[in-house]
Amino acid sequence: MIPQAFIQDLIARVDIVELIQRYIPLKKAGANYSACCPFHNEKSPSFTVSPSKQFYHCFGCGAHGTAIGFLMEYSGLGFVDAVKDLAQQMGLEVPDDGPAFSGPAREQQRSLIDVMGTAARFYREQLKLNPRAIDYLKRRGLTGDIAARFGIGFAPEGWQNLDKAFPKYDEPALAEAGLVIDNDAGRRYDRFRDRIMFPIQDAKGNVIAFGGRILDAGEPKYLNSPETPLFEKGRELYGLPQARVGIRETGTVIVVEGYMDVVALAQFGVANAVATLGTATTPTHVQKLLRQADRLVFCFDGDKAGRKAARRGLEASLPHLADDKSVCFLFLPAEHDPDSYVREHGAEAFQLAARNATPLGRFLIDSMAEGCDLATAEGRAHLVHNAKEMVPKIAAPVLRLQIVRDLAQVAQLSAEETATALGLAPPPRAAKPYSPDKFGKGSFGKKPLPPPEPRVGVVPLERQLLRVLLAQPRLGDRVPHELVAQLPATDERAAVMAIIDAGEDGSLLDAPLGAWIEHFRDSSHEAAVVRAMQSIEEGYVDESKLEVSLTDLLERLELQAIEAELKTLQGLIASGRANSDAAGRLGALLAKKQKLKSGQTA
Ligand code: UTP
Ligand code: MN
Repeated sequence: MIPQAFIQDLIARVDIVELIQRYIPLKKAGANYSACCPFHNEKSPSFTVSPSKQFYHCFGCGAHGTAIGFLMEYSGLGFVDAVKDLAQQMGLEVPDDGPAFSGPAREQQRSLIDVMGTAARFYREQLKLNPRAIDYLKRRGLTGDIAARFGIGFAPEGWQNLDKAFPKYDEPALAEAGLVIDNDAGRRYDRFRDRIMFPIQDAKGNVIAFGGRILDAGEPKYLNSPETPLFEKGRELYGLPQARVGIRETGTVIVVEGYMDVVALAQFGVANAVATLGTATTPTHVQKLLRQADRLVFCFDGDKAGRKAARRGLEASLPHLADDKSVCFLFLPAEHDPDSYVREHGAEAFQLAARNATPLGRFLIDSMAEGCDLATAEGRAHLVHNAKEMVPKIAAPVLRLQIVRDLAQVAQLSAEETATALGLAPPPRAAKPYSPDKFGKGSFGKKPLPPPEPRVGVVPLERQLLRVLLAQPRLGDRVPHELVAQLPATDERAAVMAIIDAGEDGSLLDAPLGAWIEHFRDSSHEAAVVRAMQSIEEGYVDESKLEVSLTDLLERLELQAIEAELKTLQGLIASGRANSDAAGRLGALLAKKQKLKSGQTA
């Protein structure tokens, strides 16, 4: 692990403008710099680099990040390599040179990668020695070439075969890597026995986990590595390194359910398929894939489980949609999975089906309408009710608008009514003058402000608070924990708390935004922080009025807290369970509320 302090130092020293300039020509545009985005095709520049924030952002494709992030995206480097590269460019000591920068966690990862590599080699060799396993793969139609391309191997029968692969079978790393299991009696045995082994690789091609298929019938059909320091299921995809070129060439990535599906498709020349790993598709998966492809096709089995998986894919996609990307759903006939389909009908038929896959918008409305009788008012209301959960999550503004219109038609409402029912601002034609904060003190309608934007409709308090704090983390010391604590437990709230906490130790207070982004990299707050960053970049936060906005937000929070306590007290009083102080407290709260309210409308 590279210490946070080093990362922060690096971000503080590097000049992101100078760095990016080495790769693409930048033009000065006001306080920022701009260029045609290197991450998608465009003719007019929507890629901007902010020297003060140490952050880049593309308004066209949504690419964004710090200097480290840029190197990762542009050069396809992993995080550690990007940091090393940058450090070298800055003439800083490469982090793992000094003992200060080679933490135990990093050592452990490296040794686990070695262990997994050794195991993968062993399994590959075993496959060559095992006619039964070779025969199984042949029966399933795999060629030797494709098995080699995916590094497929075989874990033989028996309890301690890995003893032959490693000098010390009792090494702790074997258990940490998930290759062996230590039972209660202190006996150790191989996790994978008598199984075809599919190595799961990270972006750099390191083996980080395995999926093992039983040869014949038996349970479980597939046994997967447990989560380890190397392997987090919700982030990884099977076949990604092998699919990279195919994805780049076609601009499309196909997401399937099974190992065998990926391998069979590749064998038939469909080289851009990846699989989730026995888990539902996560937003992280989608984000990762949409960075590399403009079009994502989910291809799930034609059965009920496949439909369910498609819905999960749908939900995971909404927060990462962009107007220049597309997500589609291909449903195969019920008896097929991609493996059997491509074998029976061939690659061309599969490609054709993928091209004609159902667009997300249509699948979304169909699935929201499932179980609703659209012939009745109740059924149509139910549809809109379902939509409230989903449509506001769509991150692509124009697509969201289109879907609102489509939905309106199905629900027999006007687009305005539908938007209002969904808690979204009405479509632009009817939009009021933009106000950064519709509860702001008299700002409403005063100035004709920049872009009218549906997203400002109902921005939850915690999201607004996060934006303000990210724009100026110092303000965190004005935010009382207990006020934040009463907000709904969202990712945004957690991120707000994390900023307040991080601010307390002081080191990041004057750091550029980019340093904060790195601070939250790979943490559970990352997505919320990045969303907020994008809103700041897109101008939803008036950066000249942060203090005022914060005061206003805090007042609204306080009001919420008072309302909540009032409600409890009134309940207690009404049910005769209030104690003697209740009346006094009630009076005090009402007075406070009055005061806050008069302050707000003054
Ligand atoms: P399927 O049961 O659809 O299998 O599981 P499959 O991919 O078609 O495999 P074959 O063709 O019978 O060999 C789809 C995926 O779900 C996960 C695996 O990732 C598998 O590829 N899975 C399935 C498990 O993790 N464990 C299981 O027991 C079964
Ligand atoms: Mn199958």
